Amino acid sequence: MKHLIRILGFSTMLFLALALPAAAQDSKCVQCHRAATPGVVRDWQAGKMGNKVDCATCHGNQHTTAADAARAKMPTASTCATCHEKKAKEFQGGKHAAAWVAMNAMPRTASQPAPMIDGRSGCGSCHSIGKDGGKCDSCHTRHTFSVQEARSPQACQTCHMGFDHPQWEMWSTSKHGTIYLTDKASGRAPTCQTCHMPKGDHGVLTAWGFLALRLPENDPAWLQDRVTILKALGVLDPQGNPTPRLDVVKAGNVARLTAADWQRERDKMVKICGQCHGSSFASRQLEAGDRMIDTSDHLMAEAIEVVAGLYHDGIIAKPAGYAYAYPDLLTFYDAATPIEQKLYEMLMEYRMRAFQGVFHGNPDYAHWYGYAPLKTALVEVQAEAQRMRQAAGKPLPEKR
Ligand code: HEC
Ligand code: HEC
Ligand code: HEC
Ligand code: HEC
Ligand code: HEC
Ligand code: HEC
Ligand code: HEC
Ligand code: HEC
Repeated sequence: MKHLIRILGFSTMLFLALALPAAAQDSKCVQCHRAATPGVVRDWQAGKMGNKVDCATCHGNQHTTAADAARAKMPTASTCATCHEKKAKEFQGGKHAAAWVAMNAMPRTASQPAPMIDGRSGCGSCHSIGKDGGKCDSCHTRHTFSVQEARSPQACQTCHMGFDHPQWEMWSTSKHGTIYLTDKASGRAPTCQTCHMPKGDHGVLTAWGFLALRLPENDPAWLQDRVTILKALGVLDPQGNPTPRLDVVKAGNVARLTAADWQRERDKMVKICGQCHGSSFASRQLEAGDRMIDTSDHLMAEAIEVVAGLYHDGIIAKPAGYAYAYPDLLTFYDAATPIEQKLYEMLMEYRMRAFQGVFHGNPDYAHWYGYAPLKTALVEVQAEAQRMRQAAGKPLPEKR
C-alpha cells in the first residue's frame, strides 16, 4: 500500500512536470523545480514575470542542487526595487514600511512566544509587511505577483481583521461592501484600495492612524482626555512631560504631530469620497468619526483615572522599575489585575471599533461592538475599583 502511494505520487509529479508547457530555454532552476516545487513554477509561469524574470534574478545563483537549498537568497523590497523603483519608493513613504519597527518597539514584543514573531504566525506574520524594508508579496502573492489579486479587497483581509482592527468585517458588511459583493463589476462601491491606495499609491497613511491620537488639539476638554490617555500609554509622565516613548511615536509615524499633517490626509480622503458623494456629505461623515473619537476618549480617560487612583492610593502596587503612577496600557493582556485587563479591552477593542466603525460606515460595529461595550466596561471598572478599595479599607464616598 505504502509502495502504491509512492508510485502514484511519483507519477503525478511526472505528469505535472510533463503537463506544464516547456519554454524554449528553461533555466536549470526551472528545470529542476518543475519536479521539486511544481506549484511554484506553475504560478511563476502564470504571472506577468513568468519566463521574463528568472528564479535566479530574485534568489541568486548560489544554490544549484537539492542539497544546498539553504544558500538560496530570499528577496526583499530592495530586490524588487531594482526594476520597480517607483512602487518601492511610494511604499517606503507609507505606514506599511514601518510595520516591523513599530511591532518591535512595543514593550511586550520581546516576551512573545517565538512562533508569534518569527514563525510566520501572530504579530510577526502581519507585521512582516515592513520587514527588511518591506515584503511586497504581502498583497501580490508569490509567484504570480498579480496586480489583479492585489486590487481585490481580499488582499487586505488576512491582516486587517479581528480584535483591534476589524476593517474587513466593517467594510464588507457596510453599504459599500455589500454593494461591492453584489455588483462588483460596476465599480459603484469603493474598496479598501479606492480609499487607501488612490491611483495605486503604495504609501498608505491615514489622518488619525491606528490609535487615533494627534497633536495639537484645540478643544480644551478633549485635550485633557488625550493627555490622560497619553499618560497611560507612557508617552507622557504623570506631570504631562514627554517620556522617551514620544520618540518612538515620532519614529514610527504613529500620530500626526502637526495640524497641517493631519489636515492634508483628511483633505485627500474627502476628495476620494467626492468621486461619488457630495463633499459636504462626506465631510459630515468624517466629522462624525472625529466626534466618536472624542466621545470614546472621554469614557476611556474616566476609566484610566479610576485605575490611576488605585495606583495613587497604593491599592495596586507599582510594578518594579515603573516610574509612573499610571496603569501602563501597553502591558496589554500581560496586565497583572483584572481591572487593568478591562482597561486594555476598552482601549484596543471597544474604543477602536467605536470610531473605526463610523469611518467605515458600519452602524453595528460603531454601536454594538464599540460604543455600547465601552460604556458597559466603564461601569465594570468603577464597580471593581470600589470593591478593591473596600477590601483595602480605603473606600471612596459614594456619589449618587
Ligand atoms: C537539482 C535540483 C535543483 C536545482 C537545479 C535548483 N533547485 Fe532550488 N530547490 C531544490 C529543492 C529540492 C529544494 C527544496 C529543498 C528543501 O526544502 O529541503 C529547493 C529549494 C529552493 C528554494 C527555497 C529555499 C528555502 O530556504 O526554503 C529556493 C528559493 C530555490 N530552491 C531557488 C532556486 C534557484 C533560484 C535555482 C537556480 C539558481 C534553483 N533553485 C535550482 C532543487 C533545485
Ligand atoms: C520576482 C521575484 C521572484 C522570482 C522571479 C522568483 N521568486 Fe521565489 N520567492 C520570491 C519571494 C518574494 C519569496 C518569499 C520570500 C520570503 O518570504 O522571505 C519567494 C520564495 C520562494 C520559495 C520558498 C517559499 C515557498 O513557498 O516554498 C521557493 C521554493 C521559491 N521562491 C522558488 C522559486 C523558483 C523555483 C522560482 C523560479 C521558477 C522563483 N522562486 C522565482 C520571489 C521570487
Ligand atoms: C529584473 C527586473 C524585475 C524584478 C527584480 C522584479 N520585477 Fe516585477 N516585473 C518585471 C517585469 C519585466 C514585469 C512585466 C511587465 C509586463 O509585462 O507588463 C513585472 C511585473 C510585475 C508586476 C505586475 C504584474 C501584473 O499582474 O501585471 C508586479 C506586481 C511585480 N512585477 C512585482 C514585483 C515584485 C513584488 C518583485 C520583487 C519580489 C519584482 N516584481 C521584481 C520586472 C521585475
Ligand atoms: C492579524 C494581523 C496582526 C497581528 C496578529 C498583529 N498586528 Fe499589529 N497591526 C496590524 C494592523 C493591520 C495594524 C494597523 C491597524 C490600523 O491602523 O487600524 C496594526 C497596528 C499595530 C501597531 C500600531 C502601529 C502604529 O504606528 O500605529 C503596533 C505597535 C502593533 N500593531 C503591534 C503589534 C504587536 C506587538 C502584535 C502582537 C502582540 C501585533 N501587532 C499583532 C496587524 C496585526
Ligand atoms: C498593501 C498591498 C500592496 C503591497 C504591500 C504592495 N503592493 Fe504593489 N500593488 C498593490 C495594488 C492594489 C496594486 C494595483 C494598483 C492600481 O490599481 O494601479 C499594485 C500594483 C503594483 C504594480 C503594478 C503597477 C503598475 O503601475 O504597473 C507593481 C509593479 C507593484 N505593485 C509592485 C510592488 C512592489 C515592488 C511592492 C513592494 C515594495 C509592492 N508592490 C507592495 C498593492 C500592494
Ligand atoms: C469609503 C472609503 C473607505 C473604504 C472603502 C475603506 N476605508 Fe479604511 N478608512 C477610511 C477612512 C475615512 C478612515 C479614517 C481616516 C482618518 O483618519 O481620517 C479609514 C481608516 C482606516 C485605517 C486606520 C484605522 C481606522 O480604522 O480608523 C485602516 C487601517 C483602514 N482604514 C483600512 C481599511 C481596509 C483594510 C479596508 C477594506 C477592508 C478599508 N479601510 C476600506 C475610509 C475607507
Ligand atoms: C501582511 C499584513 C498586511 C496586509 C496584507 C495589508 N496590511 Fe495594511 N497594515 C498592516 C500593518 C501591520 C499596519 C500597521 C503598520 C505600522 O505598524 O506602521 C498596516 C497599516 C495600514 C494602514 C495605515 C493606517 C494608519 O496608521 O494610518 C492602511 C491605510 C492600510 N494598512 C491599508 C491596507 C490596505 C488597503 C491593504 C490591502 C490592499 C493592506 N493594508 C494590506 C498589515 C497589512
Ligand atoms: C466609488 C463610489 C463611492 C466612494 C468613493 C464612496 N462612496 Fe459612499 N456610497 C457609495 C454608494 C453607491 C452608496 C450607496 C448609496 C445608498 O445607500 O443609496 C454609498 C453609501 C454611503 C453611506 C451610507 C448610505 C447613506 O447614504 O446613508 C455613507 C455614510 C457613505 N457612503 C460615506 C462615504 C464616505 C465618507 C466616503 C469617503 C471616505 C465614501 N462614502 C466614498 C459610493 C461611494
